[in-house]
Amino acid sequence: MASRKNLLVDRTALAHKARYALTHPQRIPGHLRRAGRDRWLAFKHRDHVSYYRAVMASDTRRSPDAAVGSPTREAWLKLGELQFDYLRRHGLQPSTRMLDIGCGNLRAGWRFIQFLEPGNYYGIDISPDVLIAAKRTLTEQRLQDKLPHLTLTHDLTLDFLPDAHFDVVHAHSVFSHSPLHIIEECLAHVGRVLAPGGFFDFTFDRTLGTEHQVLREDFYYRTETLTALAERHGLCARFMDDWELLGHGQSKIRVSLEPSPAAKPSPASPSVQV
Ligand SMILES: C[S@@+](CC[C@H](N)C(=O)[O-])C[C@H]1O[C@@H](n2cnc3c(N)ncnc32)[C@H](O)[C@@H]1O
Repeated sequence: MASRKNLLVDRTALAHKARYALTHPQRIPGHLRRAGRDRWLAFKHRDHVSYYRAVMASDTRRSPDAAVGSPTREAWLKLGELQFDYLRRHGLQPSTRMLDIGCGNLRAGWRFIQFLEPGNYYGIDISPDVLIAAKRTLTEQRLQDKLPHLTLTHDLTLDFLPDAHFDVVHAHSVFSHSPLHIIEECLAHVGRVLAPGGFFDFTFDRTLGTEHQVLREDFYYRTETLTALAERHGLCARFMDDWELLGHGQSKIRVSLEPSPAAKPSPASPSVQV
């Protein structure tokens, strides 16, 4: 299965930047525009969440689908389906109580909401703009009767949520945009809200080389960094090999209070956008 992962590259290295610019000259103006905007936003917003909220506001104004990483509606639908199908294969039931961290404009969320019993979906996000777009998705999909929760947050302490409540906690393409202290905050608190037997799946941009970040927007971690962090907070962590077969650009880790059974390989599907 072809995968778009490039596990060894350090995107901050000068040689990489020069090679990339030479092979993708058409992307230079867009990158420079983004770099300029991000510098200005980073100057105005010193903490990461405020900064990234401003990035999301700017991106969502242009296109909510693109703001969550899908350049077209077709790609948006496909990536939502990939997330939903994966969790279905891993035992998602209508009675499952699910917390979707960084739910975005419900690219996958609307499918979870449609499938789960009313009230069982809880989506949180740092971006008011993307949550407004999420409400639009909910309306378009006529899912009002499912009464999902959509809540704005500024941190990942999850302090407003009950103990031992969620069977599935999910964060797709959120830690790929998060510095380590935010991931740690989440791992330090997620155990409290997990129901017995529950698990927390998150994707991340994986590197086998030097950990690095680009424009404070994209963060690349080694698997061991994140599994060790989870273990430091009393969680069991496992790299999900079957997710790798799907050709997605990011990798996935599952954490739980107890060791979880090994992943069953799932049928591969075509490569998709992040
Ligand atoms: C690439 S989008 C993915 C959205 C959704 N998970 C999906 O797959 O369609 C990342 C989302 O995470 C949100 N986000 C980023 N950092 C966050 C944080 N620390 N806490 C909660 N949400 C966050 C962003 O606002 C954005 O909506």
